[in-house]
Amino acid sequence: MAASGLLLGGFVLVHLAENLLLFKGEAAYNGWVDMLLANPVTPFLEVGLLLIFIAHIVTGAWVRVEDFLNAPAGYEARNWQGGRTVGSATMLYTAAAILAYLVYHMLTFRFTDHSMGFYQMVTYAFRDPVFVAIYVAGAAALALHLSHGMQSAFQTLGLNHPKYTPYIKLLGLLVAVSMTGFALISVYYLLGIDIRAAQAGYNVIVIK
Ligand code: HEM
Repeated sequence: MAASGLLLGGFVLVHLAENLLLFKGEAAYNGWVDMLLANPVTPFLEVGLLLIFIAHIVTGAWVRVEDFLNAPAGYEARNWQGGRTVGSATMLYTAAAILAYLVYHMLTFRFTDHSMGFYQMVTYAFRDPVFVAIYVAGAAALALHLSHGMQSAFQTLGLNHPKYTPYIKLLGLLVAVSMTGFALISVYYLLGIDIRAAQAGYNVIVIK
């Protein structure tokens, strides 16, 4: 579970970097996505990613079942993996929210008509407040999930040392906080900051 979690953490960081290309404009974003789709290795990476997701969900569910079965009678099986934080107490709920978000994300961005171009599809979708609210909620769930998940994964893999643990925790927290970047991207287009920048004479591409 820890290894698949870290791999997924790596994926979301890379995916965030990819989506920051939106700020570089249409040519940069579409050029990158088109290049990925044209690469013969990409379908294998996609299947690998799906298998990692499935492994994470199955092992996560198994840990919960084991916790439940091994809990002494009269105790709640909730105090697993060290001290409690909002992140650790809500892991199951944030996991369910991320899964629901991902299904929505795949239906709206992945398995849909891309003929207008990826940049146009994404920026047009982010003009809709309901769409953006779902993206902000998804990013918040992801940030909360990773606030516990990252450092818990490092600990499980044995990267635990009195001297380095505070830095490992800080790194996990930074990765978690960076997930708000997904929300900021969507809010940027919702507020039409690109349109205002274009009106102010900055050289940005605007899709209305
Ligand atoms: C600003 C927010 C986001 C934008 C603009 C965005 C954009 C996209 C686009 C355009 C695709 C389709 C690419 C293709 O058809 O190959 C995609 C795929 C995907 N996204 Fe996102 N995404 C965002 C947030 C997220 C988040 C938060 C997650 C994870 C929780 C995520 C996970 C995925 C996955 C798993 C795929 C499928 C990968 C693939 O098939 O290549 N995305 N995203």
